[in-house]
Amino acid sequence: MAFASTIPASSKTHEIIPISPTAEFKSEYIDLAEKILSRWFAQTGRRADIFLATKFGYTNLAAPSTLTSSRPTPAPDSTPAYIRTALARSLEQLGTEYIDLYYQHRVDPTVPIEVVLETLRPFVDAGTIRWLGLSECSAATLRRAKAVPGVGAKIIAAQMEYSPFTLDIERSGFAQAAEELGVAVVAYSPLARGMVAGAQRTLADFSPTDARLRLPRYSPANFPKNLVLVDALAAVGVKHGCSPAQVALAWILAEHPGWVPIPASSTPARILENARSAEIVLSDEAVKEIRRLAEDAEVAGARMFGEGIVEGNCVEVKEWEGEGEAM
Ligand SMILES: NC(=O)c1ccc[n+]([C@@H]2O[C@H](COP(=O)([O-])OP(=O)(O)OC[C@H]3O[C@@H](n4cnc5c(N)ncnc54)[C@H](OP(=O)(O)O)[C@@H]3O)[C@@H](O)[C@H]2O)c1
Repeated sequence: MAFASTIPASSKTHEIIPISPTAEFKSEYIDLAEKILSRWFAQTGRRADIFLATKFGYTNLAAPSTLTSSRPTPAPDSTPAYIRTALARSLEQLGTEYIDLYYQHRVDPTVPIEVVLETLRPFVDAGTIRWLGLSECSAATLRRAKAVPGVGAKIIAAQMEYSPFTLDIERSGFAQAAEELGVAVVAYSPLARGMVAGAQRTLADFSPTDARLRLPRYSPANFPKNLVLVDALAAVGVKHGCSPAQVALAWILAEHPGWVPIPASSTPARILENARSAEIVLSDEAVKEIRRLAEDAEVAGARMFGEGIVEGNCVEVKEWEGEGEAM
């Protein structure tokens, strides 16, 4: 379970935490909101019941002075010093002694992935970090990371965008590489940042401050075109008695039983609605129909801002010009 990347700062997450649906649905993923989670752990004493994931390596999440980077904001930063500071800060904010799954949020093109893993190795050996993940990485970076002796085997997840609107990881060969390497895809924005759910039918339905309005798929020219796929998916849902959001999530789980979609919502009822998609069994015909709809769709607009789409590659170790101690 996760908080939406699109939820405004004044979100309702404080209201959600006290009734945490994770308690009922045993959801395995909690993302960010570290200080709020810290309070929940303190209130309930249930840290051990939760599989806790958080991330490092992206400077726009770094507000407090305890986490400084020489990089501009936002930017990837996986220099060893930054990783160590970010980890210390997360542990402190979460009020926990260990993190179950620690993701690199973005590949830092200037830092070899091998250096990143060597930086993390002592924390993995000490049990402070149990498992590792990458996000928005290339298949080549994932292969290099998995090849690092010992600590590479701890990489179990890759957080990548995937939804009926965004099949990119299948088309790039990433999904196939992840399967070959035994790495689970954690499908982020599985509702295409809410578009699949169809709650908004016109741009006037969005708050003027909604960050999605800056995304290419939500431009005045593209948004109406993208409703074609939204409506087609909704029609499949009607046949199965489930919501459009549930159709998308059930489809991902049907095609990829080893993947973990992480839909996000600020609304408790929707969180439960989305969680129930794990119990929905789509017919084989419906799974094929959704596949055909997604592949044939003429999705209008890129999935994120131009500068947000990265190759996910990094320099080789021999090109590394930073701290020598990590290798
Ligand atoms: N690794 C990365 O680089 C990366 C990048 C982006 C996102 N993520 C993570 O992926 C997770 C989800 O991504 P996301 O929030 O971008 O996209 P998402 O889950 O595809 O969509 C979230 C949006 O859908 C709406 N929604 C959710 N369930 C709904 C339902 N049943 N009916 C109608 N509307 C519904 C939410 O609105 P309401 O809040 O109003 O319900 C919210 O605006 C987050 O944890 C985020 O941190 C990771």
